[in-house]
Amino acid sequence: MPNDTGFVPCETRVDVVEAALAGLAASPKTLPAKLFYDDEGCRLFYKITTLPEYYLTRTETALLKSIAPSLVPAGLRDAVLIEFGGSDETKARVLLDLPERPFRTYVSIDVASPALLEMQARLSEAHPGLTVVPIVADFMQCLRLPPLGTPRMGFFPGSTIGNLDPDVAIRFLTTARTSLGAGSWFLLGADLRKSPDVLLPAYNDAAGVTAAFNLNLLRRLNREADADFDLGSFQHEAVWNDADSRIEMHLISTRDQIVHLTDRTFYFREGESIHTENSYKHTKERVLDIARCAGWEPHRVWTDHAGLFGVFLLQG
Ligand code: TRP
Repeated sequence: MPNDTGFVPCETRVDVVEAALAGLAASPKTLPAKLFYDDEGCRLFYKITTLPEYYLTRTETALLKSIAPSLVPAGLRDAVLIEFGGSDETKARVLLDLPERPFRTYVSIDVASPALLEMQARLSEAHPGLTVVPIVADFMQCLRLPPLGTPRMGFFPGSTIGNLDPDVAIRFLTTARTSLGAGSWFLLGADLRKSPDVLLPAYNDAAGVTAAFNLNLLRRLNREADADFDLGSFQHEAVWNDADSRIEMHLISTRDQIVHLTDRTFYFREGESIHTENSYKHTKERVLDIARCAGWEPHRVWTDHAGLFGVFLLQG
């Protein structure tokens, strides 16, 4: 049923079951990363962002803070900030809290509807003058945004672009450019290629939070998709794939076993993997190529001193 924004939420039980069945029937087995973000998944993900090994969030936030005043390009007054996948407004607030108040409207597009509503409540309290528009949708869809006015700036932080295969990243950025309309801006945060000695601990932390986050996917399927995964028989693994320049997250079956999901049966060999997530680590040049392929013109790029992370301002 379409909700009153006109968008169809894509996290009904049927969607979860269908997505899981399709992934587990594939060879090699996969599960879609969008299933990570139930309430517990959102909580665990927030915890990941505070871990000492996970340099991404603090590096990007510091970068956004330092560049925010110079971000507001000429004409970006009374503007509309549209975040793709933004159920947590922390990073948007770096831009929304600027003393010049460049944005009058904040639109957030995310599948996690409870988190979106909490975000709306928090932000409306902190910024009474700001119009907050939550849209429950998969941000990969082409969106017919409600009439919002201009100028508009798309916002895609958190290196989520790296969770998309490059051809899908190009498609997303192309679609976003269409949704946002001609003359829009786009601010993109992307983690950059670096030594696996730095990358691997970020996806396999000592406290085991990333492992719990990955395994929570199976717990969710047990609860919501009538599955019977034995959580003690799967192990989190993070792998650096140098050829594809990406971190891969897997859940490895620690024994031969059978798992049911609804009325279907899946066989796992010992050591067999369910591939749950990719996190591409592109060079700065590669990010710019991807943006250009999607029709965006690079306007400015900022990186931290160590060159860990990049923030890219693009023009449509
Ligand atoms: N986009 C971020 C990253 O790739 C956040 C993220 C997405 C993430 N999925 C994850 C972090 C899985 C840890 C584990 O790092």
